[in-house]
Amino acid sequence: MDSTLSLFLVFVSAGILHQVRGTGKVTALYGETIVVPCNRGAPPPQDLMFIKWKYERDDGSAGDLLVKQASNDKATVQATDDYATRVSIDDKFNLLISKASLLDQKTFTCMVVSVTNLMEYPVTVVVLKKPSSVDIMDKTDVLHKDKPTTVGTCVAADANPAATITWTKNGTLLVTDGKAIVITPSMKLDPATGLSTTSSTLQYAATKEDIGIRPVFACVSTHVLANKTTELGPFPIHYPSEQVNLQIMSKSPIVEGDNVTLKCKADGNPPPSSFFFHIKGQKMLVENSDNFTLSGISREATGEYKCSLADNEKVEASQSIVVNYLNLNLSLTGRVVKTVGDALSIKVEKSASGDHKIKWTKNGNIVNEPQFSKLTYSDAGVYLCEVSMTRLMQRQGFELVVEGKPVITSLTKHRAGDAQHKVLTCEAEGVPEPEFQWSVNSTDEQSTYINGKAIHKITVTPMLNLTVSCRVSNKLGEDVISINVSSVFKEENEKKDSQGDSEDQSKLIVGVVVGLIVAAAIVGLIYWLYMKNTRQGSWKTGEKETGTSEESKKLEENNHAV
Ligand SMILES: *[C@@H]1O[C@H](CO)[C@@H](O)[C@H](O)[C@H]1NC(C)=O
Ligand SMILES: *[C@@H]1O[C@H](CO)[C@@H](O)[C@H](O)[C@H]1NC(C)=O
Ligand SMILES: *[C@@H]1O[C@H](CO)[C@@H](O)[C@H](O)[C@H]1NC(C)=O
Ligand SMILES: *[C@@H]1O[C@H](CO)[C@@H](O)[C@H](O)[C@H]1NC(C)=O
Ligand SMILES: *[C@@H]1O[C@H](CO)[C@@H](O)[C@H](O)[C@H]1NC(C)=O
Ligand SMILES: *[C@@H]1O[C@H](CO)[C@@H](O)[C@H](O)[C@H]1NC(C)=O
Ligand SMILES: *[C@@H]1O[C@H](CO)[C@@H](O)[C@H](O)[C@H]1NC(C)=O
Ligand SMILES: *[C@@H]1O[C@H](CO)[C@@H](O)[C@H](O)[C@H]1NC(C)=O
Repeated sequence: MDSTLSLFLVFVSAGILHQVRGTGKVTALYGETIVVPCNRGAPPPQDLMFIKWKYERDDGSAGDLLVKQASNDKATVQATDDYATRVSIDDKFNLLISKASLLDQKTFTCMVVSVTNLMEYPVTVVVLKKPSSVDIMDKTDVLHKDKPTTVGTCVAADANPAATITWTKNGTLLVTDGKAIVITPSMKLDPATGLSTTSSTLQYAATKEDIGIRPVFACVSTHVLANKTTELGPFPIHYPSEQVNLQIMSKSPIVEGDNVTLKCKADGNPPPSSFFFHIKGQKMLVENSDNFTLSGISREATGEYKCSLADNEKVEASQSIVVNYLNLNLSLTGRVVKTVGDALSIKVEKSASGDHKIKWTKNGNIVNEPQFSKLTYSDAGVYLCEVSMTRLMQRQGFELVVEGKPVITSLTKHRAGDAQHKVLTCEAEGVPEPEFQWSVNSTDEQSTYINGKAIHKITVTPMLNLTVSCRVSNKLGEDVISINVSSVFKEENEKKDSQGDSEDQSKLIVGVVVGLIVAAAIVGLIYWLYMKNTRQGSWKTGEKETGTSEESKKLEENNHAV
């Protein structure tokens, strides 16, 4: 072995060394086995004696690794350092270095010694490692408008070469501008492994435009072996309230008795949790709510209302509230009892905050506003007064009762169909309902009472000439009227009945017709006498007058017989 080396050294000192121009390069993955080819994997010369692998130390000196004789299958490891256990050679004379680390980034040289020649092929080894992780630390939950906030720190750990980190907002690359965007990069080299850890901190001050778009940020780690994009967000953006808005949560128009809720809306995010409400000169603090309710509002509550931010009273808003109202008061209510003929005036008191309509009804029918200078029975009824305005309605009413002592308006008689009876009809007005009393016994009584008018009918069979009285009475007084009724039997025989006793209509007609015929005959007779007398030149006035008078009387009697 030593002799071989000595021989080799002789070669070297003899200057037969031929170094291949240019250095080869291999890249290996960290932790794996590095395969360093000799002479780019070209087959060795026919007269090969041995191949030796060596490396260049940091100080420039050469370090032996192993030697493989052409004649011998087994290689001889010459290294005495860390490489002693890690190096080997395969049948193509590739140098194999297990468990690659960054310390293996050196130049390894393959020395090919043949009988005639000595060649050296140096190869530089580069060891790559992708970041073991890309993480985001110190992540924020929320951004603030115009206030730089650390969005997060992105860390790409243990890589070779170092990963580079960039930031994007919704896909657009962010560049430090020193104001709204500040990106602070940093790098750490692990002295033991030589691996680099890259980190980058993004500070961002949200703009007005960001409020609408809820930006998504991403940390982009770029490395020759692996790229990784890690997203953050979308973030809510917080900003202070610049103005408030006072809302009146109520049906419109507001009317007395409503529950009116005042709601103070601020434009900030998050919305403030407490407000001041200025209610009729009083300042109320409302916490954990944005509203204040005025229950059962009254007309006195009409006025100006304000709200402001609890932490900045300069930011305020105001609204005026108008409470509408409507009241109706009639001077009459319930049951009103008046006497017929009296005057009655009704006072209507109304108070309303605006235009309103008024409507009167009597028994459900629309009437004008009632005023009575002289009450009649027909004025009685249920009166309702209705006043209305948007969302408001008031109704009041009274029942008018018109009372009066009964008064008989007519008392009549007529023969019933069978001529054996007479029907007497007594009509009276009066309230309350009058009671009827007759001076005769009757067989068939009928009565009606409508709107203060009472009609009472009785059927009698007078055997004699009678004077019948109809008496009406109620608690207020009475009235009585009499009528002469002739005996029904008498009338059978005598056509003429006195005192306006009622007769059949047919008899009246017959009487009138007979009367007219007789009168016509008389006129004819008179005319004849007149002509005769004129011819004779004499005229007897008395005769003619008597005749006329008698006939008139007869006519009258016939008429009275009705
Ligand atoms: C930004 O990204 C978020 C989430 O993907 C999306 O909701 C938003 O509309 C995007 N904004 C713009 C301006 O693209
Ligand atoms: C990483 O991204 C860069 C640039 O975008 C690209 O050149 C490279 O090929 C990517 N690498 C991998 C492993 O995807
Ligand atoms: C007003 O609020 C009270 C409780 O505060 C409730 O009893 C009443 O029914 C409400 N009135 C109206 C008109 O909503
Ligand atoms: C008033 O605020 C309370 C508490 O926040 C809430 O529960 C309620 O819904 C609000 N009322 C209205 C009308 O907004
Ligand atoms: C109605 O008017 C009467 C007399 O003026 C008064 O006593 C009463 O209180 C009024 N009622 C209402 C509801 O205003
Ligand atoms: C009415 O009849 C009764 C008996 O039925 C009798 O006592 C009375 O005298 C009669 N009255 C008249 C007015 O005829
Ligand atoms: C009824 O007859 C009597 C005499 O019989 C007479 O005095 C009286 O005036 C008559 N009454 C009426 C209302 O006609
Ligand atoms: C009834 O009256 C009529 C006419 O007044 C008279 O002629 C007649 O005699 C009277 N009858 C009796 C029974 O009194």
